Amino acid sequence: MTNAFDQDRVLIFDTTLRDGEQSPGATMTHDEKLEIAGLLDEMGVDIIEAGFPIASEGDFNAVSEIARNSKNSRICGLARANFADIDRCWDAVKHAEKNRIHTFIGTSALHRAIPNLTMDEMADKIHDTVTHARNLCDNVQWSPMDATRTEWDYLCRVIEIAIKAGATTINIPDTVGYTAPVESADLIKKLIETVPGADEVIFATHCHNDLGMATANSLAAVAGGARQIECTINGLGERAGNTALEEVVMALKVRNDIMPWHTGVDTKKIMHISRRVATVSGFPVQFNKAIVGKNAFAHESGIHQDGMLKNKETFEIMRPEDVGLSGTSLPLGKHSGRAALRDKLNTLGHEVGDNQLKDIFVRFKDLADRKKEVFDDDIVALMRTGEDAG
Ligand code: KIV
Ligand code: ZN
Repeated sequence: MTNAFDQDRVLIFDTTLRDGEQSPGATMTHDEKLEIAGLLDEMGVDIIEAGFPIASEGDFNAVSEIARNSKNSRICGLARANFADIDRCWDAVKHAEKNRIHTFIGTSALHRAIPNLTMDEMADKIHDTVTHARNLCDNVQWSPMDATRTEWDYLCRVIEIAIKAGATTINIPDTVGYTAPVESADLIKKLIETVPGADEVIFATHCHNDLGMATANSLAAVAGGARQIECTINGLGERAGNTALEEVVMALKVRNDIMPWHTGVDTKKIMHISRRVATVSGFPVQFNKAIVGKNAFAHESGIHQDGMLKNKETFEIMRPEDVGLSGTSLPLGKHSGRAALRDKLNTLGHEVGDNQLKDIFVRFKDLADRKKEVFDDDIVALMRTGEDAG
């Protein structure tokens, strides 16, 4: 059995404003949320989870205004498995032309113990709450939180109930980042093959990065049949974060030969939104972060710089322009070689002969040993010192 949805297309569901904002200290203001939602909408994100409307008056207002302003994206709000949450969520998202109610409950034994519900009691609750959501909205997502640690038979049972009650998307959260890529693919594949009605809904994957496997798990889930990836800009999210949008989108673009699925995201807008999310959330991006880190397209060592100056494909598997950068960066440091120094001098408007380059290179290495990075002004100063001495 295969899912009826367009098999080549993967929907991108961004939850920066909901799961991302749940990172301790990442709270964003109303205006900041509106700005980020506008950027997500513009870049072609299919669904924006704009917040958790019952959580606070501020969240409700932000989701409502994002819903009113949305142009292309579907606007989604989160709701626990109770009527009050679902009603509040609908009151916020109903202003969008395309909307969604996302309701969830923890289904693993550990999570069932918290509200102290039996399996049957929880199954009834799922039926009632999904039915209620579907009576309000024709697009309903249901999530069994901690799905990857939920007993297989029970997981199949509750998913079937949610589908019969009207859920249009079934999201499979790896809430604590516990799963591994082979399991992730297998789980989605087996669910689609086993659960009656599974071929009529979209399966989504929602991964956390506790073991650093969120991107791999999300892509494996797609290989298993999922057609919606839930993710956040810069991987923002609780603990070690969520799947990073920029990673899954670029992985699908760069390795389309072995992962033949596409998204609707305009990748050239990635860098700008990454920087805005880092600024407004107060969570800086680590230098070596894939795709959006300061060093992701930077090459300092002599061998790499020489290779890059001759052919960019030697050390880059994607073009920096494709993620919105103006180009590769070749920062000068103690590992840099003559080719990069000459290139830098040329860029700064100085044509030098071999002897002059040799002389500047010696002084450059001496400086680079004392400084972490040598900047343009340092190079100009080195040139001047050489000219004065000459
Ligand atoms: O990680 C999780 O389980 C969640 C759910 C609310 C979908 O964020
Ligand atoms: Zn989550």
